[in-house]
Amino acid sequence: MSVDPAALRGPELLQNRLEFRRAMMVSATPGVVRRVTPRCVASAAPETNPKEQETVDESKRNTLKLLAIGGLVAVGAGAGTVGALQLLQPPMEGVSAYPRTQLFYDDGSPIIVSQYKYTYKDNGQIIFDYPLTNEPNMLLNINQLGNPAPQNALPKGDGTYLVAYSAICQHLGCIPPYISYYPPGQCGSYNGGNSIIHCVCHGSTYDPSVRDTSNGGGAKILSGPTVLPIPQTLLTTDSSGYLYAVGSLGVPVKGHTSTLAGGQGVTSAVKASSPETPTQTCPT
Ligand code: FES
Repeated sequence: MSVDPAALRGPELLQNRLEFRRAMMVSATPGVVRRVTPRCVASAAPETNPKEQETVDESKRNTLKLLAIGGLVAVGAGAGTVGALQLLQPPMEGVSAYPRTQLFYDDGSPIIVSQYKYTYKDNGQIIFDYPLTNEPNMLLNINQLGNPAPQNALPKGDGTYLVAYSAICQHLGCIPPYISYYPPGQCGSYNGGNSIIHCVCHGSTYDPSVRDTSNGGGAKILSGPTVLPIPQTLLTTDSSGYLYAVGSLGVPVKGHTSTLAGGQGVTSAVKASSPETPTQTCPT
């Protein structure tokens, strides 16, 4: 079941977006673990998609920028035009390569893979920024590997694995709480009863246990309207079992020309936390 995008407008969601952003900003440095249990909102009133709002604003901003550039070109057809155009262009943001970033709980303690405190049955979502501060990712404990399996799935030692994916839907860019992980069986026999990643904005679903093979990696699409898999975030450990994010596989995250471009880079340590209760309803 999907939420009608036409109804996705309202001050409550703008507030949600601000709260989410505030929470993610707080999570940029180690601090106190908080995990929340999602509520089913199958019968709740539809809410605004903050990411779509952001897309509209960006479009308006680009249009204004083009008009300004056009005006300068028309007026300044002389030697000073190039310099003026360069001044109009904002400095390119991003990072030149994927950083090696260690993941921490909210309380500042490092995440150790074999002792990861959440299980594949938990449908609270654990979110961290990587490689840019405006690129949320979901850290998942999954209980099985599909064929082909996600690359670098880290065995926890109890038969389950840690994997991570972008938390920005590849359809129109919905972010948490609208896209989230659903543990095995939460949605009955959907996907054979296995876990899914589902975006309630328009109903796209992805399989976190199966790697996409046609777009360089990522979680395989189960259902549209998305036509691109959700990028996988590569994880690794050091000799002590501490957890690090080190790269990305698949297409660029939605809204970015490159997963490395279009925002500020994260530091060498970020928190993985649950900033907001996921909005969940099972796909049909
Ligand atoms: S943004 Fe449309 S399904 Fe996720």
